[in-house]
Amino acid sequence: MKIAITGAAGLFGYGLVKVFENGHTVYPLTRADADITRSEDVESIFTKIRPDVVIHPAGIPDLDVCEADPAKAFSVNVHGTRHVVEAAQRVGARVATISTDAVFDGLKQSPYAESDAPRPPTVYGRTKLRAERITLQATEAWVFRVSVLFGPGKTNFVEKGLRKLAEGSEYIVAADQIGSASYTLDLAEKMREVIEAKRYGLYHLSNAESCSRLELAQRAAEIAGLDAGKIAGMPSSAMGRRAKRLHYAVLEMGGLKREGFTLPRPWPQALRAYLASLGLAKKGNGAS
Ligand SMILES: NC(=O)c1ccc[n+]([C@@H]2O[C@H](COP(=O)([O-])OP(=O)(O)OC[C@H]3O[C@@H](n4cnc5c(N)ncnc54)[C@H](OP(=O)(O)O)[C@@H]3O)[C@@H](O)[C@H]2O)c1
Repeated sequence: MKIAITGAAGLFGYGLVKVFENGHTVYPLTRADADITRSEDVESIFTKIRPDVVIHPAGIPDLDVCEADPAKAFSVNVHGTRHVVEAAQRVGARVATISTDAVFDGLKQSPYAESDAPRPPTVYGRTKLRAERITLQATEAWVFRVSVLFGPGKTNFVEKGLRKLAEGSEYIVAADQIGSASYTLDLAEKMREVIEAKRYGLYHLSNAESCSRLELAQRAAEIAGLDAGKIAGMPSSAMGRRAKRLHYAVLEMGGLKREGFTLPRPWPQALRAYLASLGLAKKGNGAS
């Protein structure tokens, strides 16, 4: 298939391009190819490529940036998605939009199912929910809600922490944010299966098993043989952030199970594989 991928210079975009290049003709699209806030840009590039499928991770994923500038957040995350979906429909392409666990309120104490009512307390979450609804107006479309991402191609939560520890600095992370963790390459592989099988709909997608941000950072440090004692856990409310963080956002992957797909491996195994690929996993350190 011909697969166009928006946000190809981003963290998830990088992983999606790498995985989908295996078996498909991929068109990686960056902001320079098409600014998604400009419908004419998007329409022109899709008319040229005529993709079968558009995978759409482009957007503003920073909660605090969205909270500080709601107009910009809506312009990119909502109107940008509308432009992508409408232009894709015009050329007969199906769309897979990347969404987030931040569409939930974080008040539950058991994993969020696809059928749970979204109630986003942030500008970011509200923009992503609108983007989901725009995407799912088409019957042949996918939305994949993912959680905190790590993977190659761009600085991320895990790599940032390891860099700080390697410099001998402290790494302060939220101790009260429990969720799922997502290795971009594992998620892209699962998306490839779902898209190739044409099983449309809304999916929760992360590595299996839950963790706090603190546990994720500590496990990464252990695997890399760095001093996990330099990671300080703090309540997210004390970290001076503009947007509210969710205390609990574990994703139940009922959609994948119902459609007969296996779940991605548990996050500690994925984390080890990621750090090994960077040459950072010290032999014998950290659980597999
Ligand atoms: N990161 C996470 O932990 C996380 C967690 C849950 C969900 N998500 C979702 O996953 C998706 C991918 O996140 P990510 O971490 O890969 O984000 P990212 O690294 O910031 O990548 C997003 C890409 O979108 C591009 N973009 C932004 N505005 C654009 C515009 N107006 N026109 C065209 N391209 C534009 C950016 O281009 P530039 O490089 O030019 O700025 C960037 O390359 C997002 O939809 C996000 O909501 C992310």
